Formats: sequence, structure tokens, C-alpha cells
Amino acid sequence: MKGIILHGGHGTRLRPLTHTGPKQLLPIANKPMSEYCLESIRDAGIDEIAIIIGGVGSNKVREYYGDGKEFGVNITYIKQEEPKGIAHAIRLCKKFVNDEKFLVFLGDNIIQKSIKDFVENFKNSDYDSTVLLCEVDNPSRFGIADVKNGKIIKITEKPKNPISNLAVTGIYLLTPLIFKIIDNLKPSWRNELEITDALDDLLKQNQNVSYERITDYWKDTGTPDDIIHANGEIIKKMEKKFEGKKERDVVLDGKIIVGKNSDIESNVKIIEPVIIGSNCKILENSIIGPNVSIGNDSIISVSSIKNSIIMEKCRINSFTKIKNSIIANNSDIKDEEGDEKIFLLGEGSKISL
Ligand code: G1P
Repeated sequence: MKGIILHGGHGTRLRPLTHTGPKQLLPIANKPMSEYCLESIRDAGIDEIAIIIGGVGSNKVREYYGDGKEFGVNITYIKQEEPKGIAHAIRLCKKFVNDEKFLVFLGDNIIQKSIKDFVENFKNSDYDSTVLLCEVDNPSRFGIADVKNGKIIKITEKPKNPISNLAVTGIYLLTPLIFKIIDNLKPSWRNELEITDALDDLLKQNQNVSYERITDYWKDTGTPDDIIHANGEIIKKMEKKFEGKKERDVVLDGKIIVGKNSDIESNVKIIEPVIIGSNCKILENSIIGPNVSIGNDSIISVSSIKNSIIMEKCRINSFTKIKNSIIANNSDIKDEEGDEKIFLLGEGSKISL
């Protein structure tokens, strides 16, 4: 079988973070979110993977994953010139897929369970597609499946009046039959070729579409809150590990991961789950956590940070308490005396004071 990761799109709801690169490279627990997809696909036994790139900073995807060897896979890059939808992106892979069955994974979907069994079942079946369904609280944001007597009857993209709360997640098992269906698709209201329309057409033609349920964690990381939530969930599942240096009185209890060469000074408090990269310094009464990741080479001083993602090479030296925030590489936050504050913000920045 072959694997496809979708790594394009504009990530508009994540601006300004996505002005410089694709959202799928934003870090969750200090690793690009799409790396979790790649690992899931590889661990399911698929090592031929196409990554569909497009949009701002797609060269960064090539730079990060290269030919895939470092990650134990072979990667082919396929460019989607315009974001014309998931089905459109899949059609670009016709040659790559050839006559094999294949797995499509949206690069912004985070799942914790292994997909190995789903892939094995599909490989040994005569299904034309298997979709993975997961219950959600906000069904109007997703493709939704209408399931009766253990069979999917209909699939609708972002329904106004959802018939169920079973979202079709961004993990699709398919056969080359889907290419014929996509060739006949019409663009949707958002001017995209929708994979959900293609799946619904399979159903209309009485093709064999099965489903599996994801009952543990799955997240489509469309918004900053989604990413921050996924960050906490992923850290919780990691092995605790301490490779840094700390002063004797610092207590590290529970899911706390600290990378090489990172220093934790006396009087610092760390509340799990937290991941701190390598070469960081956490100084002067800082309180870090719960649910915080701090990227490599960052220095945090006198600050209190919870439920946030701080990326690499950041310097935070401020008594301001920070929560629910995502702070990109090379950011600098420090205190300014007096009531007047100084900002240098990129387009689309958000500040709550
Ligand atoms: C896409 C699909 C939708 C699916 C979702 C899962 O939505 O169109 O059917 O439920 O991914 O992540 P989009 O992210 O394009 O809004």
C-alpha cells in the first residue's frame, strides 16, 4: 500500500503563525504536527509516501523531511498549485498510487491510536474505501456520516443540520476506483473538490464503503485552541525524561520532559504536562505548566506560562502571566516600565491585555 499526506492549504484561521509556513509544520510537543501523521503511516507498515505541498513556505516541508530516509520512509513530493480541495489533491497522486490500495492522511489531523489494524483490515478486504469516524461536539465543522444498521448511508460535508455527530476524520483508506469518481466531481460551494462528495458518490453507486470508529483521541487542529489542546494530550502520552541540569530544590513530578543541556534554576516550578526542548534556560521563579511546550534554545525568566506553545529561540522575560498562547520562533517578550507598551506585530496578530 501507499501513503499520502496532505500538507498544503492556507491555514487562515492560524494567521499570523501561517504567514511564514504551512500550518502542518507548527509544533505540537516540539515536533511538526505532520510528523505524527508520517509516523502513524510508517508504523502501519507503509513506507512509500507522497507529500502534497502547496501554499506559503512549502519549501520548508521539503527541507524538513528531505527524501524521508531519516524518518524511515521514501518521500515523493507532489505540488498542488492551488488549494482546490482534498479530492483534487488526491487526484494528483494517480501516477504515484498506480494500481495499489492507499491511505490518505490530512497533515493537520492528530490521532493517538495506532492505525495498523485499520490498514491491515482494509488491505485484506474487498472494500472500495474505509473511513474512520469519530464523535464530535461541533458536527457542522466536519464531513458527517449517516450510519444505519452498521452501514454508512450518506456522507455530507459541513451540514447545517447534521444528522449525526459522527465526523469523517481526515484519514481515508481508498482504492484507485476513487480516481474515476473524482474525475466526475463538481466543485462544492467553497469551490473545492470534496473528498466527502467523492465518498458519497461511492455510496450512491453501491460500492463497498466500510467504517471504523476512533474512540480515543482525534483532533483536526484547525484553530489555536485545537493545537494547544492536542499539545497537552500528546505530552501526557510521552515518557517522562530528564536530560538537562537542575538545581537540587526543583521538583519535577509527572509528565515532564526536559531536553539536553537545558538548565532549570532554583525556585522554578514546573507543573505537568510540560516539554522543554534542548539548550533552554528556565530562570528566576518562573512557573511553567500545566500544558506547555518550550522549543529548543529558549530562555524564560520571571514568567508564568500555562496552556501554551512557545517555539524555538524565544526570550520571555516578563512578569505578565501568559496563558492559551502560541508564540512563534525568535519572539521576544519583556517588561516595559510605565503604562506605555511597545509592540512590533506581524499582520493578523492577536493581543489580549
Ligand atoms: C476536511 C474535510 C472534512 C473532514 C475534516 C477532518 O475539512 O473536508 O470532511 O471532516 O477535514 O479534519 P476541512 O479541514 O477542509 O474544513
